[in-house]
Amino acid sequence: MAQAAASESGKSGTKTPTSAADEAEPKSYSDLLSTLPARGGWVSLVQYQNYWLNPGRLQHIIPVKELYKPRADDIILATYLKCGTTWLKALAFAITTRGRHHHAGAFAADDGGDHPLLTVHPQEAVPHLEVHTPGQGLADIEMLQSPRLLGTHLPLSLLPPAVVATSGSGCRVVYLCRQPKDVFVSLWHFVMDMRGGRSPVEMDAALSMFCEGVSPFGPVWEHYLEYWKESLARPEQVLFMRYEEMVADPVRAVKTLAGFFAVPFTEEEERAGVPEEIVRLCSFETLSGLESNRTGDLDCGDNTVIGKSTFFRKGKVGDWENHMTKEMGKKVDDVFEEKLKGSGLVF
Ligand code: A3P
Repeated sequence: MAQAAASESGKSGTKTPTSAADEAEPKSYSDLLSTLPARGGWVSLVQYQNYWLNPGRLQHIIPVKELYKPRADDIILATYLKCGTTWLKALAFAITTRGRHHHAGAFAADDGGDHPLLTVHPQEAVPHLEVHTPGQGLADIEMLQSPRLLGTHLPLSLLPPAVVATSGSGCRVVYLCRQPKDVFVSLWHFVMDMRGGRSPVEMDAALSMFCEGVSPFGPVWEHYLEYWKESLARPEQVLFMRYEEMVADPVRAVKTLAGFFAVPFTEEEERAGVPEEIVRLCSFETLSGLESNRTGDLDCGDNTVIGKSTFFRKGKVGDWENHMTKEMGKKVDDVFEEKLKGSGLVF
């Protein structure tokens, strides 16, 4: 088991690099920060190479490109925030480790099962490239045995080019995206939770920033497009998935993932209902009801802790309608339609 994940809205502020990982950047991060465009309001962000990032996390984000050494058998689970990272991590973990953990009763949430996901938060089960729990940075990830399962919220352009190299080191990348209106609503609640239920701005103002592209790891459409284009160019390396499709047919999604990971279910496993068991184990209902996911905090480093339950809110498609007006919804639709025009990616 590795480190906590969730790079999202941690505390902001400048920090001088201290670890070996930070040496990749010639300038100190506080020097760099002072040169970057900054925005406040809903969340504090700085713009670095076209993306809006949490300034307090730069010293973990920037070195990834140089210091993460992709291996051909790495599996990277890439997502924009609130697109279902926790779910994808759980599913990928359960699929790839099923040989070790699948035996009668192992998945039984209420009856003495001993599957790791019954006691370990999915965000902890799969380390995140840019989130460093104290003592577990990129150097620790480098020491993990292959095959590694890794998460990231970084856009493709902030990852090493070797991640999608055609030969040699190219990894397999699963990208999970979600309908942007639900992403915004989920993010809005997440940021509120992080701040004890308060927001410095009204939802309208936050939505305007989101639609301008000013959200953590935003613009969201650029994040989506980078992986989308790569998935079209190299479908064997980048699998592009949608949260809504996973909700509609999770068993199919689990089978697709297993095939992509090169560990397809055998006929015997299918007959025994293993894909269905994995779906049940990783369902919103099961995971959100577990004591290990309902109580306690994830330590994300840099004095940032996130309540474990914060990653489970409703898990519904279309919840935006309960929080946004039709006009607000249209604003998001219009922006995404315009920004994604011609790409073939539609919501
Ligand atoms: P909502 O806020 O809309 O409920 P992430 O893991 O990327 O931070 O995404 C969090 C979103 O995924 C939240 O959406 C959360 O409720 C939902 N989620 C978490 N676990 C899930 C699961 N097992 N199945 C479906 N959705 C899940």
